[in-house]
Formats: sequence, structure tokens, C-alpha cells
Amino acid sequence: MRSWPTKTLALGGDYNPEQWPRPVWDEDIALMQRANIAFVSLGIFSWSWLEPAKGEYDFEWLDTIMDKLHAGGIAVDLATATATPPPWLSAAHPEILPVDVDGHTLWPGSRQAWCPTSPVFRDYALALARQLATRYHDHPALAMWHVSNEYACHNLPCYCDECARHFRTWLRRRYEGLDALNDAWGTAFWSQRYTDWEQILPPRRSTTFNNPTHVLDYKRFSSDALLEHMRGERAVLDELSPGVPVTTNFMTLQHFRHLDYTQWTPTVDVVSTDHYIVDVLQHPRAELAFSGDLTRGLAGGAPWMLMEHSTSAVNWQPTNHAKAPGQTIRDALAHVARGADTIGWFQWRQSRAGSEKFHSAVVPHAGADSARFREVEELGRIAGRLGELVGSRVESRVAILHDYQAIWAAEGPCMPSSELDALEAAHAIHRQLHDRGVTADVVHPSADLTTYAVVVVPQLYLVTDEHAAAVAAAAEAGAQVVVTYFSGISDEQDHVRLGGYPGAFRDLLGVRVEEFFPLGPDETVLLTDGTGTWWSEDVTALPGTEVVSTYAAPPLAGRPAVTRRDVGRGGAAWYLSTLPDDDRLGALLDGVLSAAGVEPTVAALPRGVEATRRSDSTGSWLFLLNHTSAEQTVRATGHDLVSDTAVDGSVRLAPGGAAVVRER
Ligand code: GLA
Ligand code: ZN
Repeated sequence: MRSWPTKTLALGGDYNPEQWPRPVWDEDIALMQRANIAFVSLGIFSWSWLEPAKGEYDFEWLDTIMDKLHAGGIAVDLATATATPPPWLSAAHPEILPVDVDGHTLWPGSRQAWCPTSPVFRDYALALARQLATRYHDHPALAMWHVSNEYACHNLPCYCDECARHFRTWLRRRYEGLDALNDAWGTAFWSQRYTDWEQILPPRRSTTFNNPTHVLDYKRFSSDALLEHMRGERAVLDELSPGVPVTTNFMTLQHFRHLDYTQWTPTVDVVSTDHYIVDVLQHPRAELAFSGDLTRGLAGGAPWMLMEHSTSAVNWQPTNHAKAPGQTIRDALAHVARGADTIGWFQWRQSRAGSEKFHSAVVPHAGADSARFREVEELGRIAGRLGELVGSRVESRVAILHDYQAIWAAEGPCMPSSELDALEAAHAIHRQLHDRGVTADVVHPSADLTTYAVVVVPQLYLVTDEHAAAVAAAAEAGAQVVVTYFSGISDEQDHVRLGGYPGAFRDLLGVRVEEFFPLGPDETVLLTDGTGTWWSEDVTALPGTEVVSTYAAPPLAGRPAVTRRDVGRGGAAWYLSTLPDDDRLGALLDGVLSAAGVEPTVAALPRGVEATRRSDSTGSWLFLLNHTSAEQTVRATGHDLVSDTAVDGSVRLAPGGAAVVRER
């Protein structure tokens, strides 16, 4: 996996010059130089400008701006411009439009109105990519290809007839025979047995709940269908522009779950993602950290690229809060702290018209004479000093397992609780670690778990035998393994593992559960040492398993709530059958960390200060981000690259401030 091909910490952003008259372009480039902008993503939504009519191309404006950017020393992440078809295309070919679960067409008029499997759309998109690759493959400004944009942001799943046909082909490859499909989907239930492939439809709105494995397979298919599309674009670039790195911007935000990015990473040279702070979340900063740790997991631990975030407010939340002074810098550094070597914003210049006219940008409506632009300029100076850490890796000895397919299955119809978020435990545990200054890698169960001292398995509802065995092997080899409720329940067909829950982890944990007692969002259950939320269950601890805490109220009073079992050479398997309150969860994790010998990144970290460390063979860098409104002091020695001052024993962080201390 490569990172952005520069040796500096590169700043940049989406650049949409077609929204501005040409004199503004020259001003843009001068301002980019002032702010130390290294790259722009260009042409993402430019299809209707580049191909104003079928087969008629206008590259004059793109030639001009590419040349100007090159002359200005700014590298280009050039889009294949296929993210949104022009109106002439959807007017001529309405069959490319996506269809929702109720059979309603999603009309053009916003963006991404195209069906993932439409062969017509694909032909037109590949033709445009071909033109661009032919024209710009050797342009000196070209540094990377940006394929499409945020795949699946708006057009997945599509339930049209074309998708139905592709789904059947996908199913034939997966199951070979209809008998295998009928077994996998459990169609003995509700008279659903298929006798001909043509009878199979997408899981469109039905009278009541659709078949869960059918729904799960449709999610798998939909992710694969878009990946297939990406591969088509990539093949064009490989043929006509070989050697230039290719990316597409993922969305590793908590709420975006349509694509199994684990399957996608082999198709990109650079893992890039977009992240926006979602104010309505209870813990938005922890979510940002989780997203960074997940993106790093997708990149296999290598540095990654933050393609988009915002300098301040977005335009798509109920109330779009502006960022506090200083937060533009701190938020950017928060991504670098988790392994980003490139920091991009959406967008360079704030639009005057269109849906995103009130979305913040590097150059706001007020112009460059603004606090926000000055903050970016300041970050530009800091980025210059941070070049030395580019390529270094984030240190972590804790893994949190994350699998989009397990999430999809857990979000299927008719579960014990439809109010429980599939990522509830993952985020709660990650946040406790984050608050302690302990960094976790958020990784797929197929990752190499042997390097971790702690492996957390949060609500891994669906798990393959192979992945369950890898978790058990980690405990055998000496790791502290923490499994939560509703893990190991089903296999990859979403068939329940019999003989007592949590089927796949029962032996490892030394517990057996006969029945779930899920809790609603406003319910709690008393424990001997705290309260439990979201879930409880009737646990029996098998011989050799220690009961750490117990339910203290009916109907489960006296039954084990948290257990622990010694495994292998110094390892242990912990089971949390409920989600304990923050204090209790924190205390449990303290016990796990101390058993594993995992220390926080720095000792005596003040509450509200985030700490991570990046290192390589040449040095190590301590990131400290003060999310509080008070000054904070942290023990450190070295040189702070943010303030460019020496640090001798302790570093003072201004309210909302940040430091990056080179330690050796
Ligand atoms: C996404 C898109 C951008 C822009 C931003 C706004 O990330 O990729 O084009 O719409 O959202 O937050
Ligand atoms: Zn479709």
C-alpha cells in the first residue's frame, strides 16, 4: 500500500474551478501557495462540463487549470469525473437511474443518480475515463487518479430489474446450484423454496420481513457490484496511465455501512477516506478517532490519506455547528495522529450557489481575509515541520475486530433487538481505551492477530469458523481476549450455531448461554458492581471459568454477567454478557490492560486530552490534543513541532490546543 506520493505532510482539497470565472483561478493558486497546499482533487463533478453532449468533449478548461496548477507547484489527484452523469445522459437513457426498495425511480437533479450495474452507464463512464486517461496520463501535474467519488453514498442498494439480473448471476457464482442457495437462505421457512433462478428478486419491499440471508446476500452483492464498477475504471487507468497511483475515497464514518471496504483495499493503491464530525453523536471526537483507527486497519497499518474533512460547518446536519477557533488545526492533526499522511478538505473555495453553498471551505465566503483561512495558513506552516514523520506508523498493541459483513447480518430483519446498534460495544470499548490514551487498531478478523496483546471481539454476531479459530489462537498464544454479548452467534450463511450461545466462542470463553434478555435504550440492569445496558443473558459459567461480576436483579439475579477464563500461555478469555456502564467498563478494561502489560501512550494523561504515538526507525512523535477548554499539562520531552519549541519534562497545551513532540 502506497501513501500519497510526496515526502511532506501534504495538505489539499477538492477543487471545483468550473464554479468560478477564470480570474479567480489565478487568485486560487496564489492562495494555495500561501497556505502550503500541496494537492487538489480536481474534476470530481465535472462530467457535464467535460462532455457537454454525447461524445463531444471539452478539455480546454481542464488543460488550462492543470497547466496553471503545475506551474504553481500543486499536484493533482485527477478525478475520472464519473461520479454524476450529466442531464443529457439520464434524459437519453432513463434506464440508468437507480430504483429504491419500493420501486420508485430516484430521479436526476442532485447527484450520483446511477444504477451500480447499469451496462449503459458503465459504457459511458468508461468512455469518459478513457478520454481523461489518454489526455492526461503524462501531464506533469498528475499525481494520482481519483475514481468516481464516495461510491454508494446515495445510490445503494438499487432494486431495479438490471440489478435483479446481476444479482442472479452473482448468486449462481456463489452457490452453483439452487439447492445450495435454498439451504443457505433457509427457504424451508415460509414457503420460500426457489425452483428456478428467474424467480429470485432483490429483497424489495414485501408484506413483512424479508428473508435475512437473502437480505445479507443482497448487501454482499451490492458492495461487489460497485467494486466491479471500480475495477472497470481501474482497468482503463492501468491500460492508459500505468504507474500512476489510483484511489477512491472511502467513507469510514460510523453511519456509513454500505460497502465492505476489506474487499476493496486490494483495488486501490492508496487508502483514502472522508470524515466529517457528526454533532448529534454523543461522543463525536471518539468517533473521529475510531474512524482513523479503522482506516489505518484497512490500510494494513500503513499511512493513509484523509481525502475530505471540513474546515468548519457542514451543510447536511440539522444544525450545522461552526468549529471553534483552533479546531481546524486540531481536527486535522487528530487524523495525522491516527496515521494520515495527507490531509484534504472539502472544498477549496466555498460555493456561491448550489446545495453546498453553506458548507465551509478553506476560502470562505468572506474571502482569504478571514480567521478560518489564517488558521489553514498556520496549519500549512505546521505541516512543513511535520514532514519528518511522514511514513511513520501508529503504535498499538490492541486490536478491535470489525467486519462489515457481521454488521450487515446483525442489522438484518427480526433480531432480538432492532434498537441495539451493531457497533455499540465496539465504540464504547474504543472510547474507554481512547480516554485512557491507549490506541487500538480497528481490524478485520482476517488480520494477523498475533502481534496484539489485547484482542477485542465486540458484537461479532456473524463469524466464520476460521476467524473464530484465529481469535482462540490469539488467546492461546497469550493475548487477553475480550468478547462481548451477541458475538459468534451465526455462521457466514447467518445460520445460528446450535448448542448454546455464543456458539463460535463458547469453548474459548467457557460459558454457555441459553437465552437472551435484551434491554431497550432506556432500560438498565443492576450488576453486583455497576449497571448493565443494552443486553443481558442467562449465562452459565462452565468449570474453570471465573465469575467476575453477577447480575443483581431479577430475572437474572445471581447469574454471571462478566466472566474470565485462563487460556494457554498466560492468555485469558473475558466475556461481557452486557455492556457495563462507563465506570465499570473502564475498570474492567484497566484489569485487561494491566494483565496484558499494555501501558497508556503517556502516564497521567489529563481527562479530555487525546494521546497517540507514531514512530519509525528514525524517531518517535507524541501527539497530544487538548479537547478541553482549560490549559493542560502533559509529561513529555523533546521538541514540539506545532509551536516549534523545545519541551523539557512537560508540555503545556492551550485550551483546544495541540502538540506533536519529537521524542528522539
Ligand atoms: C461528501 C462528498 C463531497 C461533499 C461533502 C460535504 O464527502 O464527497 O462532495 O458533498 O460530502 O460534506
Ligand atoms: Zn439497479
